[in-house]
Amino acid sequence: MEQNPLPECSTLPVNPASDCIFRMIVGVTGASGSIYGWRLLEKLHSRPNVELHLILSRAGERTAFLETGKQAADFRALAHCWHPVEDISSPLASGSFRADGMVIAPCSIHTMSSIAAGISSNLMIRAADVTLKQRRPLVLMVRETPLHLGHLRSLTALAEMGAIVAPPVPAFYHRPQTVAELVEDTVDRVLDLLGLAGPETRRWEGPGRASQG
Ligand SMILES: Cc1cc2nc3c(=O)[nH]c(=O)nc-3n(C[C@H](O)[C@H](O)[C@H](O)COP(=O)(O)O)c2cc1C
Repeated sequence: MEQNPLPECSTLPVNPASDCIFRMIVGVTGASGSIYGWRLLEKLHSRPNVELHLILSRAGERTAFLETGKQAADFRALAHCWHPVEDISSPLASGSFRADGMVIAPCSIHTMSSIAAGISSNLMIRAADVTLKQRRPLVLMVRETPLHLGHLRSLTALAEMGAIVAPPVPAFYHRPQTVAELVEDTVDRVLDLLGLAGPETRRWEGPGRASQG
């Protein structure tokens, strides 16, 4: 595992390309499914109106490498700014930092339960807590199965607090042919929740068009 180098951005905002910037925090934890975080970052990276802030947990770094062969540096390269998960003095730890939303993709049970309990023990969990307390959209792509009652109670608490619980559960009505297509549809659904869906987003238009993609 890499040592944490210093964060790359010190002045904010960091994306001067647009006046109308959507500041998005993306968290990647150690749950299975780091490909979701990767594709989310890839898709948002190319948008001129999105400023991307990345928090990658240590377990996220490990799982991402095991599942995709990608290093933390590869993930960081897709963000305008990345923040060490241990850095509780990051701007993201404060409600005064004007973020427009946060997605944790994928979200582990560890991180999900900590957010539900209000335990802000690292920057990922603190930034999510701040997102909730500031009444900003928080999307959690929680990945675990099966779920015990404690998990379900924590998820219920999060829904009551205003979080959007969006487990990466694929739909099959577009007749996906590859895993990449499944991932794509799931990521597009999450972007849709934030009002950031691109023109490529596929929508159900009725049974007559089901096989047309
Ligand atoms: C290959 C691999 C797959 C894992 N899959 C999951 C998973 O699907 N869901 C989950 O909650 N934890 C999963 N874990 C365990 C988490 O990585 C572990 O609980 C970790 O402490 C989460 O820390 P974080 O929330 O700070 O990233 C997995 C671990 C590994 C190594």
